[in-house]
Amino acid sequence: MANLAVLTALATCDAAIFSDALNHASLIDGTRLSRARVQIYPHCDTETLDAMLGASDTATKVIVSDAVFSMDSDVAPLAPLAALAERHSAWLVLDDAYGFGVLGRDGRGSLDASGVHSEHILYVGTLGKAAGVAGAFVVAHPDVIEWFVQGARTYIFTTAAPPAIAHAAYSRRRWTTRVCGCRPSGRRRFRLARRGCGSRCRPRS
Ligand SMILES: Cc1ncc(COP(=O)(O)O)c(C=O)c1O
Repeated sequence: MANLAVLTALATCDAAIFSDALNHASLIDGTRLSRARVQIYPHCDTETLDAMLGASDTATKVIVSDAVFSMDSDVAPLAPLAALAERHSAWLVLDDAYGFGVLGRDGRGSLDASGVHSEHILYVGTLGKAAGVAGAFVVAHPDVIEWFVQGARTYIFTTAAPPAIAHAAYSRRRWTTRVCGCRPSGRRRFRLARRGCGSRCRPRS
């Protein structure tokens, strides 16, 4: 739902979306619902993406990628993607369903792990995997968040997450940090994360 909300609010029919070939189904559905022109770039191929962005004369460009790919478990080239977003004045939507709670300091996610930050990034984290609850959240520049609050249809026209879910997510976050200690090893964090996300989430060697 968060991916649908972000993509339909951000990319209207005059926008162009550049989507990784191995993106998760919810991102693909978001690109389709947005009615923007969708171009698929080969998996993690930033050179081809660069050329596609350069050839596009659309004012609103949106790059869309899983941060950690759900079927292959590989991590997207986050720094090059952020650099391309800045160079081509594009947005970069990153779905960190499998990075949040697992990678980075205390499981803060893929961006923390890679030290990448940019105001062009819209970060979507899910609470149904490592956090073991349900729902998702979006992190972006406050102006962008305000745009979503005012215009993201699957956010506005559905019942809000129940307070019990919000509280469980909050408690789980503290629990994960405390149980793991301050700097749990990557493998230990993956073991903890798997309890929330099932067998598709496996450690990378
Ligand atoms: C990469 C990715 N993004 C988003 C989702 C959707 O998350 P949820 O099931 O919490 O709505 C999933 C679910 O498997 C996923 O793998």
